[in-house]
Amino acid sequence: MIMDGNGRWAKSRGMPRIAGHHQGVEVVREMVKSCGSMGIEYLTLFAFSSENWRRPQTEVRLLMELLKSALENEVKKLHRNNVRLRVIGDLAPFPKRMQKMIVEAEALTAANTSLHLQVAVNYGGRWDMLQATRKVAEAVANGELTPESVDDTVIESYLSTAGAPEPDLFIRTGGESRISNFLLWQLAYSELYFTQTLWPDFNASELRKAVEHFSGRERRFGRTGDQVELAENVSDA
Ligand code: FPP
Repeated sequence: MIMDGNGRWAKSRGMPRIAGHHQGVEVVREMVKSCGSMGIEYLTLFAFSSENWRRPQTEVRLLMELLKSALENEVKKLHRNNVRLRVIGDLAPFPKRMQKMIVEAEALTAANTSLHLQVAVNYGGRWDMLQATRKVAEAVANGELTPESVDDTVIESYLSTAGAPEPDLFIRTGGESRISNFLLWQLAYSELYFTQTLWPDFNASELRKAVEHFSGRERRFGRTGDQVELAENVSDA
């Protein structure tokens, strides 16, 4: 999910932008609950993109504080609810203390088996492909891999989402119809859903609407409609 529209939501109420982000955190809580109860196994949220550093310094600082306080206050609750947390992105620019909190939160929740919650922070799809490419190049240079053995599976095993399935559904709120450097490799076959609803107004019933839209789509993975129908008949038999 790309959680867009917090700033506009706040502005339309004569409130500072950060008030929109605060309301956004409430919606994050609701989404974690709803995904759990709907049986959705993986949820990936774009909380801070590599490009978000370009925002006014005060907003960047407040967003960081919000993420830090979410880590401080929510991790135990996530753990109690059997949620597994993984933070993806380039964490190098963050204070050591925050990096440590992330490592500890991931370790605490590592064995949890209900929702896998992935939070993308200082993340960019191109960064993800680049860091994977560098690791592949190192493995080739060390002789651990040959160039010929590098295939989709190898690349995937170095992406920050390694081990997670490709997303079935991508949701972006806030009216823009762009992927904006989110999970570029991983979204190759995902259903794309864009809504005008601003993130702070997004809720469980909006999520159900998006999932219903997804359920009504035929996913062909490059095959023809006839092939998909045939494969479905065979697997039903
Ligand atoms: C985009 O809205 C939103 C963000 C850049 C930040 C999203 C962060 C949160 C909802 C809170 C932290 C998340 C977690 C997982 C605890 P915008 O500011 O671009 O809105 P606009 O397009 O209306 O200006």
